[in-house]
Amino acid sequence: MPEIDPWGDVEITDYEATMAQFGIEPVAELADRLPDNRLVRRGIVFGHRDLDTVLDARDESDPFAMMTGIMPSGVFHFGHLGVVEQVLMFQEMGAQVTLCAADIESYTTRDVSLEDARELVIEEYLLNYVALGLNLDATDFYFQSQAGNDHHVRSKLFARHVTQNEFEATYGNADPGKMASALTQYADILRPQSTEHGGPKPTVVPVGIDQDPHVRLTRDVASRYRDTSYRKPASTYHRFMRGLQGGKMSSSDPKSYIALTDSIPDAKRKIDEAKTGGRVSIEEHREKGADVEEDMVFELLAYHLVEDDDELNRIRTEYESGAMLSGELKAIAKERLETFLREHHRKREEARPKVEQYVADNLPGAVH
Ligand code: TRP
Repeated sequence: MPEIDPWGDVEITDYEATMAQFGIEPVAELADRLPDNRLVRRGIVFGHRDLDTVLDARDESDPFAMMTGIMPSGVFHFGHLGVVEQVLMFQEMGAQVTLCAADIESYTTRDVSLEDARELVIEEYLLNYVALGLNLDATDFYFQSQAGNDHHVRSKLFARHVTQNEFEATYGNADPGKMASALTQYADILRPQSTEHGGPKPTVVPVGIDQDPHVRLTRDVASRYRDTSYRKPASTYHRFMRGLQGGKMSSSDPKSYIALTDSIPDAKRKIDEAKTGGRVSIEEHREKGADVEEDMVFELLAYHLVEDDDELNRIRTEYESGAMLSGELKAIAKERLETFLREHHRKREEARPKVEQYVADNLPGAVH
């Protein structure tokens, strides 16, 4: 099995094999210690490392943290919601919340200027996160480029605790931009445990599995670094929602995703054009039923648009039996999507003054 390249095209087909290869544990075994959550119930959040350290802290009323990061490279779409929902879940559980906008990474690996990154972060990330329920006042939100001197000093000290061999074995190669952003990411992940942020504590990092290489090396760095007794960070992993046309959901292909800022007509059109598991003729569909596993509209419903399991199962059964046609499934999705987007667009505008104030108070202009 190949290594995972966090900057490459990661498409995982066999999650079980990937878990076995990298020693990721199933989340199902901890589900009864987590709040009831749709993504956990449905196995969309499927794996973890050491999540029990965070749950133990919660049970003992000890401090614990949640940190994750976003690389500003495009629009914010439904594929990003899996992380947001976990951020909100850990926020509700009482975690100290840290969010990083990875503008150094998008500069070094995607050629996005710091100004453009700043714009994207405000419009695509902050506004959507706050509209979805992030409590910005209780969040340490920062740009990598403004993370502070101590943060960047630590990221350089960490260089001593990873070898060239490990770097190459983990990432495939060690070009300078990747090295710089990887070391910055280790400092990001360990930031909630820094002295300025209250010292060592269990920390969970919800990420897509493409980020696991960073988690693994940060765990090594944490245990080798002697100047602070860092706890090894914990992590959770979610399945990637596939693109609306099948295959990968990708920010560079607008037909593959629905953005949270898409207009309602655009979003509906994307549903109309999506790949379904419907059969070529109505007769065949009635006879064989839909191939639900290959239906991207059903996937969207299951991930984000139908909360109630009984309702989702009813839809699945009818669709699989052939009683429900693809057009009828799409009608359900379009109706749900319209309700969601209408509400979300309103909340975004409601969030705007608060976000603008936060940016003015906390996030100075881009570095030159
Ligand atoms: N590398 C992540 C991405 O590509 C962004 C990121 C930066 C991050 N720092 C992080 C993710 C810390 C999790 C934790 O999206």
